[in-house]
Amino acid sequence: MIPSPEEPGRASGLIPRDSSLPNLEFPFRDLNSRVTTTASFYVRNHFPTPPLTAEDWSLTVGGAVLHPLRLGLEELQSLPALTLTATMECAGNGRTFLSPRPRGVPWELGAVGTACWTGVPLSAVLERAGLPEVAATWEVVLEGADRGVMTEPVASPGEISYARSVPLAKALDDVLLAYEMNGEVLTPDHGFPVRAVVPGWYGMASVKWLTAVQVVPEPFQGYFQTVDYAYWETRDGLPPQLRPIGPLQLKAAIARPAPREVVPCGVPYEVTGAAWAGEAEVARVEVSVDGGCTWADAEFIDPPKPHVWRRWRFLWQVPGGPVRPTLLARATDTHGRVQPTCHDPARGSYMITHPLPIEVDVQESSP
Ligand code: MTE
Repeated sequence: MIPSPEEPGRASGLIPRDSSLPNLEFPFRDLNSRVTTTASFYVRNHFPTPPLTAEDWSLTVGGAVLHPLRLGLEELQSLPALTLTATMECAGNGRTFLSPRPRGVPWELGAVGTACWTGVPLSAVLERAGLPEVAATWEVVLEGADRGVMTEPVASPGEISYARSVPLAKALDDVLLAYEMNGEVLTPDHGFPVRAVVPGWYGMASVKWLTAVQVVPEPFQGYFQTVDYAYWETRDGLPPQLRPIGPLQLKAAIARPAPREVVPCGVPYEVTGAAWAGEAEVARVEVSVDGGCTWADAEFIDPPKPHVWRRWRFLWQVPGGPVRPTLLARATDTHGRVQPTCHDPARGSYMITHPLPIEVDVQESSP
């Protein structure tokens, strides 16, 4: 059964960020639960949502495997399943805070969400297909059924499909072939009938409408791996190397107040938000209410949980007005790493993890 086109993702309070495709942002000020409802979960598409049916869908598993195979949906669903919770963030989330404003979908704060995903571990499917004695550098390419022509950041070589790879070690560790989101069949926009979920990685790795899995011995050179969703890495004094974006980077984001919110002066205000660290764990969140001059600890609402954001709060004694203070939040992980103070241009318009300035209007409350 295909879920109805009236499914909630399209009709809810998501903010459209694109006139031609369903690229929809969660209004981050509405963050009020650890798990985001499916209707409130952001949507990021590069091509139109493909009209797949459960009956016709199949997954081919090939490349350098011992026994290439093809699985139908019922066959996949007959394998032992598990449910995991993971925070997913689009690598371009926060792009509107960059100056000058770069190309790309103009995400503010809400291209991020947390969901419970149910499905079959990719490792189970790869075990069925059989892996030869493999080198650690092998990769698994995940390909979606959606296709089209890309014009930005550069023109694609004609029509291409959406595909990304993950290292084989990650594929065998915790990548899920999910067919349910928050206990319901995936909606069309979120990848019906099956999508990959790559816990702790930026969302681009979690390929939707998954129809092919290929084990490859060489680094995958696909468009969304090398042209888009890549950045320049400088390491050990070597010339910069183009690398595909991978794990989520440490980040704290403010949900309330929202940018430009009018805040009444002279009364306490609960500043809230969430922080995430990809494959690491968030240990501390600090808040500044004076543009970064001073910082104070926020309190966690949620306990730590791998791959899942932690919500936090901070009680702000709002000063007299009218003033226009800038609020910032910054996270520290359990390894003692702190968010960078400014955006690294080598990341282009991706991995925007410096503390994002939330400027608000503190005003006399009306009588
Ligand atoms: N998979 C396919 N097949 N096509 C896509 O355009 N977009 C990726 C990823 N998987 C994409 C895809 C990106 S960039 C993100 S951030 C996530 O899907 C978003 O998942 P969502 O739309 O379910 O929130």
